Amino acid sequence: MPREPRTAPGTERKVFVKTYGCQMNVYDSQRMSDALAADGYVATETVEDADLVVLNTCHIREKAAEKVYSELGRLNALKKARAREGKQTVIGVAGCVAQAEGREIVARASAVDLVIGPQTYHRLPDAVRKALAGEKVVETDYAVEDKFERLPDPRAADVRRRGVSAFLTVQEGCDKFCTFCVVPYTRGAEVSRPVAQILAEAEKLAAAGVREITLLGQNVNAWRAAGPDGRDWGLGDLLWRLADVPGIARLRYTTSHPRDMDDDLIAAHRDLAALMPYLHLPVQAGADRILKAMNRRHTAADYLKLVERIRAARPDIALSGDFIVGFPGETDEDFEATLKIVREAGYAQAFSFKYSPRPGTPGAALDGQVEEHVKAERLDRLQALLAEQQKTFLTGLVGERIDLLLDRHGREKGQLVGRSPWLQPVIVDESLGEIGDIVPVRIVRHTGASLFGEAARDRT
Ligand code: SAH
Ligand code: SF4
Ligand code: F3S
Repeated sequence: MPREPRTAPGTERKVFVKTYGCQMNVYDSQRMSDALAADGYVATETVEDADLVVLNTCHIREKAAEKVYSELGRLNALKKARAREGKQTVIGVAGCVAQAEGREIVARASAVDLVIGPQTYHRLPDAVRKALAGEKVVETDYAVEDKFERLPDPRAADVRRRGVSAFLTVQEGCDKFCTFCVVPYTRGAEVSRPVAQILAEAEKLAAAGVREITLLGQNVNAWRAAGPDGRDWGLGDLLWRLADVPGIARLRYTTSHPRDMDDDLIAAHRDLAALMPYLHLPVQAGADRILKAMNRRHTAADYLKLVERIRAARPDIALSGDFIVGFPGETDEDFEATLKIVREAGYAQAFSFKYSPRPGTPGAALDGQVEEHVKAERLDRLQALLAEQQKTFLTGLVGERIDLLLDRHGREKGQLVGRSPWLQPVIVDESLGEIGDIVPVRIVRHTGASLFGEAARDRT
């Protein structure tokens, strides 16, 4: 096998990347690590050893953004301690806080040497070189060039570290402007990556042993691009093409907006065996007046009708969602409508949050901000209902026979873990196969959010 170029011994530098926020940040962190690896940086899990620390941040709620500043406080002390030992430490802030706050970060946290927004990661190695030379670097322009074109191709060894299940970002940004949300400001306008670029990356993943790909996008189902057949392709077409990549057995995608769920995509859930029966389709709230104030551009009835069409295509689909409680002006009655839509739609699992006013978003300036204790009570009630639904879903899976893709070792010795088609972790004995195998399993019980399986020898 050809050896990959390596940095000369002694010149190796270490990088520690910490990821906050959504799966798109997880993917971006991998691409940043790949780009830095090409520049001689080796990943470390020990922050004290790192010559370069990158915080890949999230701005979605106040708590998420504030975590970054407490981490930067700790890093400041670490940087000083390392300096006393004669070691230089470069501290970088990437991600959505970087994009939203830019230069303010450097003013507030003096330890920070570089700030880089999500559209400019291809410039990261260069920014690090400038920071090493003593410059404070702030790169938060919406780059005109395609970062994916310019990011170095990941080395095969780095791709193999992804394991058998990998993320692939196909779409970025958002044009929806929900009034609570920072994403359109931090990630910019909706952009779809071209088919050829996505296929090349999927083939590379498959060649490195990846068997399951999760396509990512802030609005992944808004993905559209010119197909090789000259037609305008939507996500459904892309999924069909990706299912043909040798080695790729399973496909998933997240996150979807109800407005962009088209007929082809719904049909793919019916006809494309590689597409797993799981759909993250946030509705956010159940009252039409709140949905309108949120600028979601769909009603509760539209959403329920859509869920019905998806279930008609794929009856066993596991529905997932996001909910916000306490949006400005939300009354008790509005909140009851959220509980009602949860009961009517039925979720296998979901994420729910207290509304957090975000600077620069229209929601933050609205009258009728809801008191904290009211938000907390509503969140408790909503989460109790969602937990009950999750339990019902898991109980319904006991006895099912599934094909399980084994993707990692379990916490306890002798265990292997995979994801069920509906995305829950399934724990089995290691005698069932090896990581990367797809094995027949019967679900025998569940605890909390995990399922346990045994070898299924019989066919049903
Ligand atoms: N693009 C996706 C989700 C983006 S952010 C979509 O359109 O649904 C992930 C979730 O965070 C959102 O679905 C929403 O539920 C939550 N969220 C976003 N802004 C928020 C805010 N200001 N306060 C509380 N939760 C928020
Ligand atoms: Fe945010 Fe709405 Fe865009 Fe989702 S669709 S990223 S919630 S603005
Ligand atoms: Fe957070 Fe940015 Fe993702 S705000 S949720 S990291 S798109």
